[in-house]
Amino acid sequence: MQHLDNDVRELSVAEHQLIEDGHTHLDQFLRELRETCCEFYSLEGCQGCDRGKVASCQGRLNSFEHVFLDFVIEHFKNEEKIMSKIFSNQDTNECFRLHQQEHDKLLREMQSLMHKLSTESDRGHTAVAIREFHYRVTELFGKHARMFDDPFIRQLKGGKK
Ligand SMILES: [Fe+2]
Repeated sequence: MQHLDNDVRELSVAEHQLIEDGHTHLDQFLRELRETCCEFYSLEGCQGCDRGKVASCQGRLNSFEHVFLDFVIEHFKNEEKIMSKIFSNQDTNECFRLHQQEHDKLLREMQSLMHKLSTESDRGHTAVAIREFHYRVTELFGKHARMFDDPFIRQLKGGKK
C-alpha cells in the first residue's frame, strides 16, 4: 500500500468498494421510493387512489424513512471508520473534521425532514411527501457526494482509475 504523505495512505480496493456499495444502495432506495407512488411523475396528489392504497403508501413511507435513516447512519459510520484509518492524524486533519461535521449536519436535516413529511403524509398528502422526500434526498446526498465523497476518493486512489 502506497503512502501519499506522512499522515495519509491510499484507499484500499475493499474500502473503495464499501463506499461505492453504499452509494449504489442509496440509488436503489430512491428507485424503490419512486415506484411506491403511482403519481410520482405527475403533479397529482392521492385523489386518484383508494383509501387502501393511500394507507399502504403512508405505511411504506414511514417504514422507508426509518430504514433509510438506519442505512445512512451505517454508511456514514463506515466512511468515517475508513477516514480515521487513512488519516492517521485525524484529530487535526481538516478534511476529516469537515466531512464528519457534514455527516452530522445531513443527519439532522434528514431527521427534521422526516418529521415534517410524516405530518404531511398523515394529513393525506402522501404523494407530495414522497416526491419531496425523493427530491430533497437526491439534492442533499448528490451535493454531499460531489463536495466531500468524490474528492475524498479521488485524493486517496493515488491516481488509479
Ligand atoms: Fe460522506
